[in-house]
Amino acid sequence: MAEAPTVPELHGPGHVAIIMDGNGRWAGLRNRPRLYGHHAGAKRVREIVESCPDIGVKYLTIFAFSTENWKRTQVEVSGLMALFRRYITKEMRNLSAFGVRVRFIGDRERLDDKLTDLMAELEGVTAHNSRVHLTIAINYGGRDEVARATKRLAADVQAGRLLPQDVDEETLPKYLDTCVLPDPDLVIRTSGEARISNFLLWQSAYSEYEFIDTLWPDFTKAEFARLCAAYRGRDRRFGAVKVRS
Ligand code: FPP
Repeated sequence: MAEAPTVPELHGPGHVAIIMDGNGRWAGLRNRPRLYGHHAGAKRVREIVESCPDIGVKYLTIFAFSTENWKRTQVEVSGLMALFRRYITKEMRNLSAFGVRVRFIGDRERLDDKLTDLMAELEGVTAHNSRVHLTIAINYGGRDEVARATKRLAADVQAGRLLPQDVDEETLPKYLDTCVLPDPDLVIRTSGEARISNFLLWQSAYSEYEFIDTLWPDFTKAEFARLCAAYRGRDRRFGAVKVRS
């Protein structure tokens, strides 16, 4: 039997990706350490995830730690890793009960075993859910993802499983971490910076963008809903010319 629709009749964005920026500045404005801002940022995630069904967002992808974020101080990096472990442990039951399927993207090689075990556990526990698909990018970089995908693709060519002449635009995405996800319709970046910082480079070729001044710990579901409503008024042409009737 077909699954009952849980999403209202809204025309997208079906997939929203968010660069959650501004935690450090938010903490600085309060004379608190940067990790205070990251903790406040982690608290925002639940409200945004839980607002997805009402807004019509089926897929939400969030950028939690980039391949470049290792350059931060050891205190901040280890504090963020501890925060991810704590978040997964604390939110496992909530996410599961709400019907969220969680996936992680990024290179797990450099992450500690305790964290990767928790990530695998959360993916397993939520694997049967489909109300919201939440993807969390940890140790993720778009260039790194394409390089890792290319390595696997090259191995398939070398093993004779794939012919070079068969490689086209449809082939590479099958090797990306996001192979089971649709491309993002809308990418939001908070905190006033207008750059994409190596996030979903391949996948966002035709995404719409919103760069907003709000710092991530201040981002609300009302603002999220407003940005999604604005998206519905946009004219996406994917390089084609609109045919007027
Ligand atoms: C960028 O703000 C934010 C990060 C590098 C970390 C993002 C992490 C969270 C929002 C919390 C944890 C998330 C989960 C899923 C548990 P920044 O530190 O660069 O801020 P700044 O530009 O103001 O310094």
